[in-house]
Order: sequence, then C-alpha cells, then structure tokens
Amino acid sequence: MREFDYVVIGSGIAGLSFALKAAEKGSVAVVTKRGLADSNTAWAQGGIACVTSEEDTFDLHIADTLAAGAGLCHEDAVRTIVTEGPARIAELTAMGMHFDRRGAPNGDTELDLGREGGHSKRRVLHFRDSTGMEIERTLLEQVADHPRIEVMENHMAVDFITTGKLGYAMENSCVGVYVLDEATGEVETLRSDVNVLATGGCGKVYLYTTNPDVATGDGVALAWRAGATIANMEFIQFHPTCLFHPKVKSFLISEAVRGEGGVLLDARGRRFMERHNPQRELAPRDIVARAIDAEMKRSGSKCVFLDITGKPADFVKSRFPNIYETCLKSGIDITRQPIPVVPAAHYQCGGVKTDLNGEASLRGLFAIGEVACTGLHGANRLASNSLLEGLVLAHNAFEKSARNRPPRVAFNLPEWLPGQVTDVDEMVVISHNWEEIRRLMWDYVGIVRTDKRLQRAATRLRNLHAEVQEFYWNFKITTDLLELRNLVTVASLVVDCALSRKESRGLHFTLDYPEPDAAKFLRDTTMRRT
Ligand code: SIN
Repeated sequence: MREFDYVVIGSGIAGLSFALKAAEKGSVAVVTKRGLADSNTAWAQGGIACVTSEEDTFDLHIADTLAAGAGLCHEDAVRTIVTEGPARIAELTAMGMHFDRRGAPNGDTELDLGREGGHSKRRVLHFRDSTGMEIERTLLEQVADHPRIEVMENHMAVDFITTGKLGYAMENSCVGVYVLDEATGEVETLRSDVNVLATGGCGKVYLYTTNPDVATGDGVALAWRAGATIANMEFIQFHPTCLFHPKVKSFLISEAVRGEGGVLLDARGRRFMERHNPQRELAPRDIVARAIDAEMKRSGSKCVFLDITGKPADFVKSRFPNIYETCLKSGIDITRQPIPVVPAAHYQCGGVKTDLNGEASLRGLFAIGEVACTGLHGANRLASNSLLEGLVLAHNAFEKSARNRPPRVAFNLPEWLPGQVTDVDEMVVISHNWEEIRRLMWDYVGIVRTDKRLQRAATRLRNLHAEVQEFYWNFKITTDLLELRNLVTVASLVVDCALSRKESRGLHFTLDYPEPDAAKFLRDTTMRRT
C-alpha cells in the first residue's frame, strides 16, 4: 500500500490544475490510464468562455448559460463559475498559456474572442483551433519533474476503497483506490483521504463521438460503484458538426467555424437552419443537432455540409489551421468546398453530483470537470463553458480539501485479491460487447428518443451487464475489460435517467413526451446505488 495526500485520477485541465495546486501542500499521485496528454481537454478546439471584454458582463454570460440550460442550471453554480473565471484564466496565462490576440483600436493588442452558439457576445478565448493542446502543453510543463507529483501513466483505476466496503462502523468514506498497472498486470493499492475524479466524460458509449478513445465514463462508473450520487445522465450533448469521412474517426469541426460565418447546407446545397430556429447556425447546440438529424432523416442523406467558403481563404487557414490541414489530408479543401458533417456524441452534462467545491456525496471523494455535475450545464451545456468549469472547480476543490484536511487516519487497506482468475482468452467477446453497447446506444438512446427504444436498450444492457460481470470475476483484469465494465454501467445510467424523465427538455428529447413538464420535472434526475 502506498500513501498520498491527494490521489487525482485523470490528466486533463481539471486534474492537472488540481494536482499543481495540491502539490503545494502535500504529495500527489496523478493516475492516468494512457499517456499524461491523453485527455478530452487535449482535443478541445473551441476555447474557454470567459468574460474579459468591456462589451461583455457577468450577467450576460450567466443569462446565456441559464438560457441554454433549459431551466435546470443551478444559478449559484453558474454565478460562481462565471464570476471566478477571470481569476483562474489569469493564473493559466501566468503559467505561460497563449491565447490568440489581435490588433486593438488603440494600436495595442487585445484578446481575439471567438463566438459560438448561444453566446450573446464574443467571449471565447482560444488558441487558433487547438486550445486544448495549448492548455495541456502549459499544464504539463509545470507538472514535468514536479518533486511532489508522482505521475502514474498507463494505470487504470479499478475501484475505490470505502470504509463501508471494509465494514467500518462510520460514515461511508472513500479512503483509497485500487489501480491496475497495465505493464505488469498487477493491482496496486493507493491510500488517500482526498480522492479526486477528473476522468472526463463518456462519449465512447456511443458509436459516433467527437471524443478520444479514453472517454469511457470511468469516473461516473467508479463513483456509482462506491455509492456516490449520480445526476442528469440523460443529458448527453451531441455536437452538430463532426467530420463525416470514412477514414477519419471522431474529428470535430469546431462550433467556432459557425461562429465565424460558416453556414449549414443540406445535400442539395440549400440552407435549412432558418426553418428550425431564428438564431439559425448559432442557435444552442441541442437545437442545431436536432435540426441536422431531422434534415438527414427527411432527405435520407448520410450527412449535411458546413460551408465556410464565404470567408477569405487566408483567414480560414490562419484561424482554423488544424481543421484546414486535417480536412485537406482527407481530400477536402475547406476554403473551396463545404465540409461533410454529422452530429456525434460530444459531452456528458450530468455526472457525479457535487457541490461548488467539487465534493461528491461520499466523504473523501471529489469530482471535477466533465465527470462532475455541478449544476452549471443544466439540461444543455453552453459551448466552451466546460474548460472554465474545470479550472474553477479544480481551484475550489483544492481550497476545500486543503482547508479541512484532518490528520490521516491509519487505515490498513487490504491488498487486491485476484482470486482464481485466468487470462482472458476470448478478446472477441470484449470487442463484440463494446460494439454492441455503442451501436445500441446510438440507435436507441440518441438525439431523438422514445420509451420503447429506451426500454429495448435497458433490456439489452441488463444482459450485457451480467455477461461483463461474469468476465470481470472469472478473468484477469485488463484495461479493455475495465473499460467495458465501466461503459456498460454508464450506458445503463444514461438509459435509466432518460427513462425516468417523462418530458422533453434541453438535450433529452422524446417523441412520447415532446413538451417540457415543469410541474413534474424541473429538477435534477438523481440515482444512487442501493
Ligand atoms: C467546439 O469547438 O465546437 C467545441 C467547444 C465545446 O464543446 O465547448
């Protein structure tokens, strides 16, 4: 058993920001199942929404966030994150983060603020179209060789260790975590009173996603099994514009492209958004994604098109170099041709329910970033609010955990017992179940839902869950098997939350209850394992 003052699981903006602050106070382990830079953050294109310009105000940013959230945002969470944002951005800038700047009227330079759907002002700080990469670069430079941070790459959290499971007669608390070392196949025991989930979301639960392969919902599944409250998992955000190309998987075409004038066209080259919403291409994401879905279903076409050819080629190349290059490699010159796009699963708006300090319902457990449900996003996240949330919550969780840290109790945690297990000899079962979950979630639990399809998904997931559990107990654990176990758990949570919301609101749209029902459902959906 190894002891740390803080154990952080995940290495995106939230996890690394927390780790850097926590390292001022004690020893930190950063557990990450692949390389340090493999995170959702690194893939973020758009940027960080934050009030920095004189034309903008906190009240406007709050109002835009509340409007996108369709009645379910927690106003205190929105206010806290919006108003504390500028101080956190200043810290990031002080660490060396670059944001794009442009010439100001007074001859100086000013931040080049991007515009995205649902925002009434330009307020998205960005670094070209690779903001996430630049954030990771900045944070990783600080983490590298930090004397108090031990980085455990290729280590995957298996389960939290709780006093409840150990049989202690005390308030159930999280006191450590078992982690699998992929290289050796051994499971290590980490002891800590501050266990921080920063594992990102669960895009891989769907067949088509803008997320990297690591986004398998690990944090929500771990917290669920440990007994923490999970909220609002029905609200999965589908990004309207993922590149549609047979050879390119999961490549996002940033909303910033629409913010800079990109227009959506149907298969016959006609604009269609005005039929769906007066804000057209810059309507909130749920509306744009549903409109594209409806257009594709109506016309039977496999994709729609995003056209930025109306802008000068030089502007497009310098503002969106990553998108330009990636599309060009796939044979699409975006300065001359419209880009084929489809909606794809993008962001988990629900997650581990926390307060504004990132504290989960289980003592000793924090959740920050996409894995958490703080109340900021409500039923639909406003674009580019999530990186801000990650920064603010990392800071607040650090303050809270550092302030109230009692002396560590000397628990002697049991070692992991592998039991009578043999090597998994049927990898095909794992890959088949992976695909089955992702396909059924796409077909039955997508942008437009019905009770019948959700029930069908629930039944299939119950069978898959039983099969995966059998594998888990009878075979040596591997990262693939652990991811599959988490995937099936999280998929079931999405379905169960969706089944319990008998209305349409924000990202949850069901043909059986097409209207919102404020009398019954103006509240979070919460689930806790009994
Ligand atoms: C994008 O660049 O469109 C993604 C931004 C976000 O999801 O916040």
